[in-house]
Amino acid sequence: MSIQPIEPELELSSHIQTLGHCSVTSPLPYRRFMSDSDLVMYDLDPGRLKARVRDGLEPMAFERAGAREKIYFDPANVKVAIVTCGGLCPGLNDVVRSMVHELYFMYGVRRIKGVRYGWAGLNPSNRLGLLDLDPEVVQGINEDGGSFLGSSRGPQPVDVIVDTLFREDIRILFAIGGDGTLRGAVAINKEIQRRGLGIAVVGVPKTIDNDIGMVSRTFGFDTAVAQAVESLRCAHTEARGARNGIGIVKLMGRHSGFVAANASLAVANASFVLVPEIPFDLDGPKGLLASLDSVLSKRGHALVVVAEGAGQDLFDDDFGTDPSGNRKLGDIGLLLKQRISEYFKSKKFEHTVKYIDPSYIIRSVPAAPNDRIFCVFLGQHAVHAGMAGKTGVLIGSWNNLFVHLPIELAIRRRKQIHPDGILWTSVLESTGQPESMVNSL
Ligand code: F6P
Repeated sequence: MSIQPIEPELELSSHIQTLGHCSVTSPLPYRRFMSDSDLVMYDLDPGRLKARVRDGLEPMAFERAGAREKIYFDPANVKVAIVTCGGLCPGLNDVVRSMVHELYFMYGVRRIKGVRYGWAGLNPSNRLGLLDLDPEVVQGINEDGGSFLGSSRGPQPVDVIVDTLFREDIRILFAIGGDGTLRGAVAINKEIQRRGLGIAVVGVPKTIDNDIGMVSRTFGFDTAVAQAVESLRCAHTEARGARNGIGIVKLMGRHSGFVAANASLAVANASFVLVPEIPFDLDGPKGLLASLDSVLSKRGHALVVVAEGAGQDLFDDDFGTDPSGNRKLGDIGLLLKQRISEYFKSKKFEHTVKYIDPSYIIRSVPAAPNDRIFCVFLGQHAVHAGMAGKTGVLIGSWNNLFVHLPIELAIRRRKQIHPDGILWTSVLESTGQPESMVNSL
């Protein structure tokens, strides 16, 4: 059996930067603390591990997240800020609450600030001010969806943000957000270091799309999948209730179709799953329309699940970019609805199309219990990392353990569905859809 080469980004350093020597004894009443030499293996494949060791290379590993016995910041003096950026995601409030509780009750930190509406809140020209946070203020916020602090898309001038952090005497900035936010956090951290300011930047990865590189799960994803399942169930019911009924559900997922793929596996009655990672044609003998035709003649109904970023090559227009710099997408759901209806009408084939676009409904809800628990851990681990003076660090989860990742490592490459991986293979098995719906193949 040949041994696959290690992916290029794994050769990058997983070393975590720290602001300096940790000389303050942690106030946490733990019997067992984590140390920087507690590691989590990146690669559990024995063949690759052996080959690496044989080549004289260290096994690639991440630092374990968790409370340190000696910390960098004095809890009595340190002032921290929490910011939530980008699109909403179930669990944002749970992470904020968890951080505030950990800081306040466990470390005894009293100067905790909340930044309003994302990076915009750190630009004084927006006059948003900072909120004072304590356990009383964040009480019950985890019962609600959205972000208690408010969020926004788009960057703000990095030098202005760093000026604000310095002026406000913020020593730890906790940034909760997706890849755009994390890119911002890297730029802010670099500017802090250029100025030699000794401010820690700690990221918590957030996105329902679950597309952050080197992070096996982001919070909000499970909740979004659970919500999406409801739409799929309804669309399937509608499709089955009509002669040659076709249900179409469009789900979020700009570059990665994890929500669509996982929700489809959960309902186990989708006929087609279309994701940004796997191209498909509409027309021709192998295209979606012909495949759908054949499913209808066999089963009398069909459910099509499409991620919003799928089939973008079917649009000629350039729709511009959003404030985060993301390419705006053509509406693939509406295009499918129109083209499917036209196709069956032209064949004079009796059918009905029921289209559901749950849109923001899947991400503006409160987090489901599993995500809530996950968020509690993420918030706590972020606080431990910050108090230990770790910076440019992201709290990741790898092999079911919480780890410290350099933010730069995580944003190098987006996580996507692999066409030969187990997830997509399972989707193909569960739907029975052809492996390729591209006519030229
Ligand atoms: O990044 C998460 C996400 O929910 C994507 O799936 C979606 O494309 C995007 O946000 C839409 O967010 P907004 O409308 O806020 O830009």
